[in-house]
Amino acid sequence: MDDDAAKVESLGSGRVPFYEPGLQELVDEGRAAGRLTFTGDLRAALDGTEIAFVCVGTPGLADGAPNLAYVERVGRDAAVFATNDLVLVEKSTVPANTGVRLSQIIQREQARTGSPEGADKDRVRIEVASNPEFLREGSAVSDTLHPDRIVIGSATPDAGETVRRVYEPMLADHDCPVVMTDLPTAELIKHASNAFLATRISFINAVAQICEQVGADVTTVAQGMGYDKRIGPHFLNAGLGYGGSCFPKDVAAFHHLSESVGYEFRLLDAVRQINGDMRRLVMDKLRSEVWHLQDKTVTLLGAAFKPGTDDLREAPALYLLEQLLDEGATVRVYDPVATGQVKERYPQVEVFEDPIEALTDAHAAIVCTEWDQVRALTPAQMVAALGYPIVIDGRNVFDPQAMEAAGVAYHGIGRGSPQ
Ligand code: UGA
Repeated sequence: MDDDAAKVESLGSGRVPFYEPGLQELVDEGRAAGRLTFTGDLRAALDGTEIAFVCVGTPGLADGAPNLAYVERVGRDAAVFATNDLVLVEKSTVPANTGVRLSQIIQREQARTGSPEGADKDRVRIEVASNPEFLREGSAVSDTLHPDRIVIGSATPDAGETVRRVYEPMLADHDCPVVMTDLPTAELIKHASNAFLATRISFINAVAQICEQVGADVTTVAQGMGYDKRIGPHFLNAGLGYGGSCFPKDVAAFHHLSESVGYEFRLLDAVRQINGDMRRLVMDKLRSEVWHLQDKTVTLLGAAFKPGTDDLREAPALYLLEQLLDEGATVRVYDPVATGQVKERYPQVEVFEDPIEALTDAHAAIVCTEWDQVRALTPAQMVAALGYPIVIDGRNVFDPQAMEAAGVAYHGIGRGSPQ
């Protein structure tokens, strides 16, 4: 159920309205089996429902706190429309203790005198549970079906058990730990996980800046660190930093939560600051090569905040794009799936479906998203296409030595000077 009529209409006619590998097939399968339907009518959706997942947006407010008004509205509506006992499961990312507030709202709504709905309402028991989502865009389907863990928080064992049963068929195919806990703990696991992953990225980006000064290569530093089982290899790719709809918002929300309970989470301040620095660093590298940007043509290789998605939310490429336009450059963008959206938002930008065409005669290129199509470009192709062979590699996808051997003025992130 969604109140965005265009989305419901699109899904109802079998079309997934965004790019996510494998999702179309899954939706087709569910529709064909008659097990998946779409509606804009919450009352109809809740009629006879035992478990409902709340997946509404929790957009960031100016002070970093998430806007929980949509979550609250679902709680009120569920209190009015539920026809039988219901477990209302928070899937949206919410700060600790949202579940407690949501339960209060539901109880208050149920107790409201003169409430318009059915007489049996008082006997309907609505419990809130938390079941945070850990999937990544671009691999959402496989992350959902093969999770590292499932976290379920609830105030009563019964509600938790009801949610666990939803996962039973999936767990039969893919066993993973199930953490059964209380509501605030489950909610906090989500924020702490995203904040920790963002911290790893900012940590390696800080190390990258030291690498540049001492002539070390951050990709090898990360590899050497990652072999330590206590550290592990993931989320240690230095570059333009994190974007997307989750890390920036969740780090801000977690910081806001900690402040609201009297703890100053200075580490997260630094995480955010380092993340912002990386975009500026890439612009500095570009300016150090091409000098002024006025009337220069710069090609952005990739626009999406990461490969495998057409999502542009908080994409580092958009910061660069806007900065370049501000400084008078002509901006070209290559992206295999997101150019339509880029053109819609920035009509003055030239968009390309072919990376070589996008590079042709440009003054410089910046790698923003490590799409396979970008990785596949060879130094020789880049030299042949670019007007001036200048490449700023914001995702460290190319080999610095190979680039320099081909005559490219190449700048990665934290890659020191080749010895
Ligand atoms: C992230 C988490 O990885 C998921 O576990 C979580 O469920 C999700 O947020 C969410 O809260 O909904 P997602 O935003 O889809 O998933 O993307 P990630 O793969 O985590 O990448 C986030 C950003 O970090 C991207 O811009 C990526 O380029 C950047 N990144 C990632 C790095 O700069 N370096 C790395 O080593 C890894």
